[in-house]
Amino acid sequence: MTEPEILPPMPEPWRVKVVEPIQLPDRRAREKHLKKAGYNLFAIPSEAVFIDLLTDSGTSAMSDEQWAAMMRGDESYAGSRNFFTFETAVREIFGFPYVIPTHQGRVAENLLFSTILKPGHIVPSNTHFDTTRANIEANAGVAVDLLVPEGRDLDSDYPFKGNMDVARLSELLQKNPGKVPLVMLTMTNNSGGGQPVSLENVRAVKAVCEKFDVPLLIDACRFAENAFFIREREAACRNWSVISIVREIFTFADGCTMSAKKDGLANIGGFLALRHETWVQSIKNRLILIEGFPTYGGLAGRDLEVIARGLKEVLDDRYLQFRVGQVRRLGERVSAAGVPIVKPVGGHAVYLDARRFLPHVPPSQYPAQALSVALYREGGVRSVEIGGVMFGRRDPKTGQEIAPDLELVRLTIPRRVYSNTHLDYVADVVIGCYRNREALRGVRIVKQAPYLRHFTAEFEAIGA
Ligand code: F0G
Repeated sequence: MTEPEILPPMPEPWRVKVVEPIQLPDRRAREKHLKKAGYNLFAIPSEAVFIDLLTDSGTSAMSDEQWAAMMRGDESYAGSRNFFTFETAVREIFGFPYVIPTHQGRVAENLLFSTILKPGHIVPSNTHFDTTRANIEANAGVAVDLLVPEGRDLDSDYPFKGNMDVARLSELLQKNPGKVPLVMLTMTNNSGGGQPVSLENVRAVKAVCEKFDVPLLIDACRFAENAFFIREREAACRNWSVISIVREIFTFADGCTMSAKKDGLANIGGFLALRHETWVQSIKNRLILIEGFPTYGGLAGRDLEVIARGLKEVLDDRYLQFRVGQVRRLGERVSAAGVPIVKPVGGHAVYLDARRFLPHVPPSQYPAQALSVALYREGGVRSVEIGGVMFGRRDPKTGQEIAPDLELVRLTIPRRVYSNTHLDYVADVVIGCYRNREALRGVRIVKQAPYLRHFTAEFEAIGA
């Protein structure tokens, strides 16, 4: 009998065909950019960023096949052939017959909630992403997060920290008959560290939904990464292919919202897909009002073709193994140097725990913002603050700001864009800041907008 082949850890399962130069501005230039931007990384031009880890959304590199698909665009207003390719791909993977294209994920959410929600309706989820929550609240609904307690414990190494608390869901449905139009599951849980939901949890959530006759919809943005984690961690699925896990997950759902800017491996696009006809006509009517005709939904024909291919490429085993492994490798590197991170490492990002990174900076001085500024200053690395600036709320009675539970910096890894060498550099920058952490100071806000202030707020350094 021949011995099985023992392979060394695998490198990127692609070779580079096109390159885009990037530059690290010198330290003085970085300091100047920070000052000009009011210490808000959203205001820094991307050309002044060396490694851009702001988001994994719309930032993927396309494959040669996807670039070829761009040339196959049929830009007919109605009935473009690319729509049918797209519709077939979504049906084959997710199993939903009704497929409504949109130009990104939040429009799928907008269409859904503006059509079906009535004032006072409650929409539970494991954790709503902020655009989902905002679309529910903008339609006078109430968004409720029912994450399992392990999901909020930064130190827990529970394998499925994105799971929904089924007992609390059951209780909520019991207490609010007729007030819950649907239940959502966000896979993976972006706001909670990119953590997966188990297949067992999907089944259990569906059983509760069935008991109360409420549909289940999945926010499918990172569906392939979630399925990969299921195969890795759920014993019953160890020998399954990723596509069969995906198909199994979605048999329990009545529909999904999707941003193709993540696991669609596309730079723009999304969709809403549904199993039943009930909501379809009114959603399409609204689609025509805000996005376009139902066979393009705010996209060019070539975009639809690109997404159809991306949805298949993302299910490739070698791709997923490298992808999830690359993010994990970055997390393990910084963690080995003592840097506090959210564990286990999620599918699309490494989340630094800024409170423990900078224990001398109080929450009122926005440690995560201070840390993200330091990463740019030290190495031209752009991350995103997910803490007091993004989620701080004002107490309506005292006017005092209430800090959120978590104060995180997200290092979000775009798909197929950066090599391990780039990420080793990022790890060195993070570790360098950690070794020098005592010198880092907090920030104060000097200018802010009434809503979504993190995009435009300006800051100054405290004690500088
Ligand atoms: N749902 C989840 C879980 C998301 O992460 C996002 C976007 C959306 C919905 C909305 O999709 O941007 O296409 O409208 N997340 C990006 C991020 C913006 O950086 O995490 P969209």
